[in-house]
Amino acid sequence: MWFTGLSGSGKTTICRNVRETLLKRHVQVELLDGDAVRQHLTKDLGFSRQDRLSNIERVAFVADLLSKHGVITLASFITPYRELQEYARRHITSFREVYVQCPLKKCIERDVKGLYKKALNGEIQRFTGISDPYEPPLNPDLILRTDRESIAESAHKVVRYLEIHDFIPKG
Ligand code: ADX
Repeated sequence: MWFTGLSGSGKTTICRNVRETLLKRHVQVELLDGDAVRQHLTKDLGFSRQDRLSNIERVAFVADLLSKHGVITLASFITPYRELQEYARRHITSFREVYVQCPLKKCIERDVKGLYKKALNGEIQRFTGISDPYEPPLNPDLILRTDRESIAESAHKVVRYLEIHDFIPKG
């Protein structure tokens, strides 16, 4: 399950919530999260177009390995360009795309990490939504509207999706 969306849209929070539910059900699950992965596997990368592509390429490689072994893999990355979204779809077994949709205005209001403020002040370059584009996915498998749904509702939709499509047993 590949979660794409703006910074602050709720990707990480929803993924953590889904992971808890699956762990309780003894389903094998792994979470690959942009902020964490970028401190280890892709520590050498920044936010240029090429670096974002390299980031997604490496993560897609790992996600594919996990997925092939039947692990429910929750990948949470902005994945801002269609090119990146299509790369992930092409290279990952049983790929499903979840669009975590939230208006930019709302993400700026939330500004969980204080990064929008910095980006708006020009302290961070190429920040998605501010000084770098976000291209919404064209055909997501699931859409979560985090400006209208609670975290629990969004997470429940993901779990339901996995159940309905026989990726996990019904709880
Ligand atoms: S992606 O574009 O390559 O998919 P990724 O999801 O790994 O991005 O990392 C995004 C996270 O990096 C954001 O949640 C934010 O905390 C941090 N970040 C730092 N600089 C930027 C930037 N210029 N644009 C977007 N996110 C940034």
